Amino acid sequence: MAFGTLPAFNRMRFPFRVLAPTLIAFSFVSLASPAETANEAIARATAAVRAAAPRAQSDPARPIFHVIAPAQWMNDPNGPVYYRGCYHLFYQLHPFSDGNGPKYWGHVRSRDLAKWEPLPIALAPSLDAGEAEVWSGCCTFNGQGKPMIFYTSIALGKSPQTHAEQWAAIGDDDLLTWRKCSANPVLSEALHDGKKVYDWRDPFIFRDRTRTFMATGGNLNEAKGGQAVVNIYEAQNPDLTQWKYRGVLFQIPDPGARTAECPNFFKLGARWVLFVSPYGKVQYFVGDFDPETCRFRAQTRGLLDSGPNFYAPNTMQVPDGRRLVWGWVNGFPDGRGWNGCLSLPRLLSLSRDGQLRQSPVPELTKLRRKPVEWRDLRLEPGGRPLSLPKTNTLEIHADIDLETAEGLVLAFKSGAGDARPVTIELSPSEFKMKDADLSLALDKSERNLGLRIFIDRSVLEVFVNETACATKVISPLDAGATLELQTRGGIAQAKQVQAWPMKTIW
Ligand code: FRU
Repeated sequence: MAFGTLPAFNRMRFPFRVLAPTLIAFSFVSLASPAETANEAIARATAAVRAAAPRAQSDPARPIFHVIAPAQWMNDPNGPVYYRGCYHLFYQLHPFSDGNGPKYWGHVRSRDLAKWEPLPIALAPSLDAGEAEVWSGCCTFNGQGKPMIFYTSIALGKSPQTHAEQWAAIGDDDLLTWRKCSANPVLSEALHDGKKVYDWRDPFIFRDRTRTFMATGGNLNEAKGGQAVVNIYEAQNPDLTQWKYRGVLFQIPDPGARTAECPNFFKLGARWVLFVSPYGKVQYFVGDFDPETCRFRAQTRGLLDSGPNFYAPNTMQVPDGRRLVWGWVNGFPDGRGWNGCLSLPRLLSLSRDGQLRQSPVPELTKLRRKPVEWRDLRLEPGGRPLSLPKTNTLEIHADIDLETAEGLVLAFKSGAGDARPVTIELSPSEFKMKDADLSLALDKSERNLGLRIFIDRSVLEVFVNETACATKVISPLDAGATLELQTRGGIAQAKQVQAWPMKTIW
């Protein structure tokens, strides 16, 4: 099977992992010399992405205000970091096709979280050192202030399920060029004192007072599942090249959980929050961390995004203290010269009862053009179509008082053609969209719905009262699309509906 024909992310990716090393060895070695250095690999990858860019960038379904690779396949956001006035984001990139394949690290940066600049590929596998892929990880600064990327190194011909190492690279002052550390592997399996960790990957560094820790994902029981864990390590030197295994930070409490990819562990207010991507919808846990025992005790949990197309999120703390998150938007059709983008940056906070709250960062308002607005619309069971601005890149705000309505239905309908409308259904207790159902804990007396909806050609992101989010790949709307609002029995009042055409981030 060619990489280009592999299905986009879904649970089917797992069997691919098993086959991956063999496939990678064949396809990759036929293209690259076995002695290729990382710099040579970057040059070859850059040429491949450049050649694919005209086709990818002329595709009318390709998002314009979500971070995306110039062309080809991309997945997880990696190493989000703020440094010297810029927000940097890296991402998993397969530069040689728009299907899954050996991973590199792409790179973008922004001064304001609204406009972004594509940068040269940051990290490539060092075939000359037996490395086939550079998988997900983080970016931090060591005790000397040197920028460091920590990532999972996949060796040529080895299965990532059973063999992985955590490597580091040191960056220049602009975070543009990276040199692999001479101390690699900085973490190897031997650290686990004989305990086998499967799918061991995705280093995430966090600090507690003066101590530096790393979390990694994996599982302890590959054959049967049910022992998905986040392991924890503590740095033993300021260079961050020596680490000590401190055990299992947290075991995912679901018997069926197969693994815990891309752990993120950070303090939010007075609590600690853990994100894990378990080959399914991304989970969050909120609780307490004891740095002495290195154990996390979770009190509440939930889903980061109830949509079918959001995975492997990664967070960044910015200088004003805010914690932001980006996820990988996946599930696009194959064969367009591009596949995958990142979600919009979301600002994280916690409610009093330990539920995660997410809202699009306020900086995104810079991307708005002149809005169309409606006020005080009475909504009933019969549809009420509103003509949207003639574009398929939109932000929509709706401020709705549910009054006597049992529920509300919003349908985005294309002007022509027979495309099925994109429908969002809400009640005080439920949020429903195709492939995305979530219970909403709206207070019974609270009848107000605050909706923010972003439509970026084939990406839909919905935020409901900052408590429920859903990301979904859709067919782009055409010009002349309408938004139809109706209740499911009873009356509601749309106090204000606004629709802004959105500018590109590039
Ligand atoms: C998540 C993931 C990570 C891994 C990377 C490889 O989507 O599987 O666990 O490091 O993708 O691209």
